[in-house]
Amino acid sequence: MDDQLKNIAEQAKIDLKECLNQNDILNIRAKYLGKKSLVNSLYSQLRNLPEEERPSFGKKVNELRNELERMIDEKEKELKLQIVNAYDSVQANDLTLPGVYFPPGSLHPLTIIRRKMEDIFISLGFQIAEGPDIEDEYHNFDALNTPEDHPSRNLADTFYLDNGYLLRTQTSTVQVRTMESYPPPIYIISPGRCYRNDKPDPSHSPVFHQVEGLVVDKGISMADLKDTLQFFAKAMFGPEVKSRIRPHFFPFTEPSAEMDISCVSCQGKGCRICKNSGWLELAGAGMVDPSVLEMMGIDDQIYNGYAFGIGIERIAMLKYNIPDMRILYENDVRMLRQFSRELI
Ligand code: DAH
Repeated sequence: MDDQLKNIAEQAKIDLKECLNQNDILNIRAKYLGKKSLVNSLYSQLRNLPEEERPSFGKKVNELRNELERMIDEKEKELKLQIVNAYDSVQANDLTLPGVYFPPGSLHPLTIIRRKMEDIFISLGFQIAEGPDIEDEYHNFDALNTPEDHPSRNLADTFYLDNGYLLRTQTSTVQVRTMESYPPPIYIISPGRCYRNDKPDPSHSPVFHQVEGLVVDKGISMADLKDTLQFFAKAMFGPEVKSRIRPHFFPFTEPSAEMDISCVSCQGKGCRICKNSGWLELAGAGMVDPSVLEMMGIDDQIYNGYAFGIGIERIAMLKYNIPDMRILYENDVRMLRQFSRELI
């Protein structure tokens, strides 16, 4: 008898677990507590029991009925709550409302230009080299043949640190570091940050970026330098761009030159951007001074080379028509957003 009661309770638990909706609850209630239910059939067994067993069995059946009622009520409550929650979440996630818009991020124009420059030089077989922003005087000046009294060493131009180091004023430092570590042939470019004690104005910033180039190999000539820079200018600004080189001076190149391109705004006719000259200065360059090669332990009778330095800001400003360098550092999202489609 007791087993029978236990089995009914166990079966009810299983049935309730599988119960999914109000209809199932109704069926279960009928099965266990209704007129023709299992519990009622137990009451009808009472009469067949000996008189003395009836009260205790009756009590047990009552307890079972109460327990079953409690279990079924609880399940019913749980199901109702599930329905309310589901309804609430449908309310919260109103699928007819417009979605939450996450605007796409964008690369900074300086990053886009740096990557374009890297791509162009990599396509010519150059490799990317890197050097530290915090440098010593040897790599920033001495090894680059820069005399003690050169004005760029001045406190007013260079940020010196208390520990004798400085913030590199040019990426030419990486020329030295590369020649120290690798034997020729060398074909590298080195993009990176540079620092100078300049007040921010439309064409100056105390932090700016350069791409340095260095080639050391046998039989390199000024024609190779000119051709490489010209290839770069056309790849960056289009095939119609003309270029020229003018004599200049840099301590670490001999001869030294500056490279100009025909104005990308007026195509050389003369405008405000090129100050009516029709030309824009693009790079410093030259043949690596033999004394630099010698300091690096490279035999200048066998090897020679060229080097160049190009400002990334300058290219970005020309390419994207940015009139003031400071705009590049203000992080105004209205400016940055305009580059969200440029993925490179
Ligand atoms: N380092 C020079 C500057 O910051 C740019 C430059 C000129 C780099 C001539 C070179 C070079 O490699 O050959 O003004």
